[in-house]
Amino acid sequence: MKVLSIVGARPQFIKAAVVSRQMRDSGFEERLLHTGQHYDFNMSDVFFRELSLPQPDHYLGIGSSRHGQQTAKMLAGIEDVLLAEDPDVAVIYGDTNTTLAGALAPAKLHIPVAHVEAGLRSYDRRMPEEINRIVADHCSDILFCPTETAARNLETEGFRNIVNAGRLIPEDFVQQAHHPAEPLVVNVGDVMLDVARHAEQKLDAEPRRKTELLEKYGLHAGEYVLATIHRASNTDDADNLRNILEAMKVIGAGGLKGLFPIHPRTRKALERFDLLGMLDVEGLVVCDPVSYMEMIALESEARLVLTDSGGVQKEAYFFGVPCVVAREQTEWTELVEIGWNRLAGAQTARIVAAVEATLRDDLADKARMDFYGDGRAAVRIATILWQWN
Ligand code: UD1
Ligand code: UDP
Repeated sequence: MKVLSIVGARPQFIKAAVVSRQMRDSGFEERLLHTGQHYDFNMSDVFFRELSLPQPDHYLGIGSSRHGQQTAKMLAGIEDVLLAEDPDVAVIYGDTNTTLAGALAPAKLHIPVAHVEAGLRSYDRRMPEEINRIVADHCSDILFCPTETAARNLETEGFRNIVNAGRLIPEDFVQQAHHPAEPLVVNVGDVMLDVARHAEQKLDAEPRRKTELLEKYGLHAGEYVLATIHRASNTDDADNLRNILEAMKVIGAGGLKGLFPIHPRTRKALERFDLLGMLDVEGLVVCDPVSYMEMIALESEARLVLTDSGGVQKEAYFFGVPCVVAREQTEWTELVEIGWNRLAGAQTARIVAAVEATLRDDLADKARMDFYGDGRAAVRIATILWQWN
């Protein structure tokens, strides 16, 4: 079975690493296409090296531009590759512009599309990712959901062929579908949990690595806030960005150190709005984006995570670290519903109040549920794709 995996942005390299390895181990013929949406060393190459992702067979070098231009260039490039490779299926990940182009191009050529991380909704159409999710899902033939919530969201949108994946996938799994001609929706669990588990095991085998990393930034385990900010709503709006930085300052003044690996989009916004000076805060360490292994190490030892990232708010939960989400909505609603994560928007007082409330929480009292499966999502994806073909 020949698969074209389509990636282009940081979280996609991470998700694809585990699925790609599983597909190759299971005998798939995989070709990897990198759109070049992310291209800095620490936004792209570092993940290929660290997670042993094979080098892309096709690199489109699209780079940064406005949504329409970027997506259009990707569409044209992906179409060329699809025509040349003629895969049995195209596999797409998440909700970026790479996902959008990666869904549309094969759908128009009648090449089946499999969407990993399908069904997520924030119900906020001002998020570019929400548009990408909706279009990608409705162009897809197999929708691999990470959670039950995601599968239910798709049911609400009219998908009827929703099949539950148990621990093991039976041989007639795909035949169990009620409406065989319609797209197949299946909750396989979250591939990000698979990757995080691998990373955790590696880190456990080399305990010095974490210690050295914390020493490098002058941090102590359990005594710092790890912050990441990159959403368009927070970086394209000077007030929101200023408010979030002000909140970091107040949190730091309260005695909690902070580490802030800065996404290139955010650094550029800070320059543009003349806000770089706000990073000069007692107790706040600022750095460039870190590698995945470093990020996992830093998340797992943090006292608290402050983020607007989709992936990071969930990884915090994987490691039992509470999280304040600098957004008004999230697609990972289950974590807010059980009170583990708090939505705080982008107002200083709300963020500070959410951080203070989180610090007062007794984590032992908090519910922990297996929303994200058992760390074997990639195996299920490969098994189902193989049967589906
Ligand atoms: C993209 C995704 C977002 C995802 C994020 C992961 C879309 C619409 N957004 O947002 O869903 O959460 O990736 O990190 O697809 N830049 C660099 N170097 C790079 C990459 C980007 O300098 O290697 C800068 C450029 O100035 C660029 C800006 O960051 O204009 C934004 O990059 P872009 O890929 O358009 O969106 P992200 O904010 O990274
Ligand atoms: N990440 C990383 N280094 C960083 C920041 C994030 O490796 O400096 C990882 C993080 O652990 C998670 C993924 O990138 O696995 C999340 O990507 P991002 O926040 O860029 O995008 P989102 O998940 O919001 O789409």
